[in-house]
Amino acid sequence: MRAHPAGPRHAEVLPVGRLGAPPSDLSALDPKVWPAGAERREGVLYLAGHDVRDLAAEHGTPAIHLDEADFRARARGYAAAFAGSDVFYAGKAFLSKAVARWVAEEGLGLDVCTGGELAVALAAGFPPDRLALHGNNKSTAELRRALEAGVGRVVLDSFAEIARLAALAEELDVRASVLIRVTVGVEAHTHEFIATAHEDQKFGFSLASGAAAEAVRRVLKHRNLDLAGLHSHIGSQIFDTAGFEVSAHRLVGLLGEIRDEHGVELGELDLGGGLGIAYTPEDDPADVAVMAGELRQIVERECAMSKLAVPRLAVEPGRAIAGPAGVTLYEVGTVKDADGLRTYVSVDGGMSDNIRTALYDAAYTCVLASRESDAEPMLSRVVGRHCESGDVVVKDVWLPADVAPGDLLAVAATGAYCRSMASNYNHTPRPPVVGLTAGASRVLVRRETEDDLMRLDLG
Ligand code: LLP
Repeated sequence: MRAHPAGPRHAEVLPVGRLGAPPSDLSALDPKVWPAGAERREGVLYLAGHDVRDLAAEHGTPAIHLDEADFRARARGYAAAFAGSDVFYAGKAFLSKAVARWVAEEGLGLDVCTGGELAVALAAGFPPDRLALHGNNKSTAELRRALEAGVGRVVLDSFAEIARLAALAEELDVRASVLIRVTVGVEAHTHEFIATAHEDQKFGFSLASGAAAEAVRRVLKHRNLDLAGLHSHIGSQIFDTAGFEVSAHRLVGLLGEIRDEHGVELGELDLGGGLGIAYTPEDDPADVAVMAGELRQIVERECAMSKLAVPRLAVEPGRAIAGPAGVTLYEVGTVKDADGLRTYVSVDGGMSDNIRTALYDAAYTCVLASRESDAEPMLSRVVGRHCESGDVVVKDVWLPADVAPGDLLAVAATGAYCRSMASNYNHTPRPPVVGLTAGASRVLVRRETEDDLMRLDLG
């Protein structure tokens, strides 16, 4: 345990409930938050055996480093926990050709939700029959491409799309396997879930209004559409099964109605993604095997009550596979004391490589990565370099008080929804994603350059 002789700096402005007392060891790496390959050697952070100072020298900053073994282990963990079910990695969390290959090699399916994500998957040679295409407004061109490629499932989201896909399937003389996305009236966030009677959102077919039942009728009428089952996605960063329980109850209810009305028992039930991860030590995500067991039990119980055969289950984790594998390295540029209130530590990235803090008030864990320090804890706000005061990377964090320009900071759990939501705000080239194995660091997606951006500007 390290002593902080001068006591925490700026402790008087501690935001209530957000950040507790400073940890006894500012350099500690909570294994819940950091990738399995993260460790300190003589105070310096190593990722998958790589000294972060070497990574920064070779790949620059900011950069997102993705621990391949961690990603694969989580993918494998999901496949094992959901054995007998289908696990689709949600590519929106982060997708590149290499990642698509990791997913394929670990035996998972892949959920893509745009023509762009579909293109990455196909370019990587991902088996098309293990792809599921999502989206509330897929274009005719995207649907055509999906059918031509032979994607395994199209998740239908609107009446217009049913007609569109049926016409395309007829034209191409194929039978498209589809799921109907049902809006079950449950929106789950972390620990609480809200049942919305009006189901006020753009995705799927409302169960309560009868739209979902009508979608089933229309799909069953089309020779070129094969209704494989139902789909629902209730939200993200969910830590327990309460929301899934309500969702499964309602979906199985609909399966029963479909059997009664049409005499068919649909074979698949996709419960979507949303399983949460630890961004900070305070987060307490459920163990995937426990979660899988509970979900299975819930569906089995509901089916037994409705006297239905248990359908094949599917889940679509994105964040829970990619998130913990990623660490962003930044270099500190300026350190500014705001009138004794708190210290603003500016790094060379920001809301262009991680919009989640600004957009969702997301909390992150951040440490001084390039050296050890015995300095006292200092209440800090890690901010970016963009022209906006909301450009915050980590809102509240204890950093050693001697943090200085040139230091490297590491932010954990940035593997999901950081690079995939990155922007060019302020004409900033987007950061690279570097894949780390014990033996090598390999650029998976290279850093954008000013030239890349200028190429789009036709003058
Ligand atoms: N399946 C469907 C149909 C989805 O819409 C999503 C996420 C997933 C699976 C994967 O969810 P996950 O397991 O990753 O939570 N940008 C937000 C997250 C948006 C998620 C949208 N849909 C964020 O940064 O937190």
